[in-house]
Amino acid sequence: MPSINSSDPTDLLRYRPRRLRRTESLRRMVRETTLSVNDLIYPMFVTEGEGQKVEIASMPDCYRYSLDLLLKEIQQVYDLGINAIALFPVIPEELKDNIGAESYNPNGLVQRTVKAIKQAVPDIIIMTDVALDPFTTHGHDGLIDEQGNILNDPTVEVLVKMAVSQAAAGASFVAPSDMMDGRVGAIRQALDAAGYIDVGILAYSAKYASAYYGPFRDALDSAPKFGDKKTYQMDPANAREAIKEIELDIAEGADMVMVKPALAYLDIIHQVRQATHLPVAAYNVSGEYAMIKAAARMGWIDEKKIILETLTSMKRAGADLILTYFAKEVALMLA
Ligand code: PBG
Repeated sequence: MPSINSSDPTDLLRYRPRRLRRTESLRRMVRETTLSVNDLIYPMFVTEGEGQKVEIASMPDCYRYSLDLLLKEIQQVYDLGINAIALFPVIPEELKDNIGAESYNPNGLVQRTVKAIKQAVPDIIIMTDVALDPFTTHGHDGLIDEQGNILNDPTVEVLVKMAVSQAAAGASFVAPSDMMDGRVGAIRQALDAAGYIDVGILAYSAKYASAYYGPFRDALDSAPKFGDKKTYQMDPANAREAIKEIELDIAEGADMVMVKPALAYLDIIHQVRQATHLPVAAYNVSGEYAMIKAAARMGWIDEKKIILETLTSMKRAGADLILTYFAKEVALMLA
């Protein structure tokens, strides 16, 4: 490339970048990033009961489905080209306890739902969340001691049981989202020992202690009853630490790594992309979703354009995959 700091200002007119933006065909031809339905993973909420489709107050157009209606919805989104869903359960209060034992119940909501999806839509990729917060009375992702400290190794023992029970039900990927140390390696070992060598691990490797998860915690009634998650989720101010977490999860056997949230962490996505050859996922989280929905409902932004521009920015930053509550809307737009 010739130097463009010529001292003669008229000389600069030799360079006309606008030439490549003149028409839509030209723009399409030189486009560097494309968003495809293949990039999308659709997070979905399942609840007990029948005939239930309840909108989440802080996440308009996003619902908790009972299993019967969830299956119909999954068939629809699969027909739209969405290859994968990430499943999150709404656990009834009476099934929660201090240690999240319901999480590894072979007949629990997640396990039953995974089996039913395997039957109804066998080709869709099912990713299950491995974390205790929907299952604990206190809302934390880990076991706690009397002082309220989050205990790492005892938590990992429960996570391992949970992951194996999800694999037994038919999950294609388990996705540990809790940020305990060493859980990816422990889960990998246990899956292999139980014969689930083909069940993959999507590791929430760089997951930040973020206020952007607020609406999700409404969706699951899973907000922590005391304190915050800062002793396990990462400090939003840190970038090098994200690379450390990514390297550890890869060494422990992760098949794919994730950065979460996405929009306020595009620089992290970019750095993680440089640091690994594994697929990199970004989680366009509930708060990012809610902000766009709210502004669109106020009539302040063009929702469809903002969605596409936002998700494209994540791909441009280096994400291969995007978990997003907009997945169905995007699939309809791209169809
Ligand atoms: C729980 C979990 C959370 C999300 C996914 N899994 C919330 C949290 O860590 O408190 C957030 C997803 C979102 O906000 O869309 N381990």
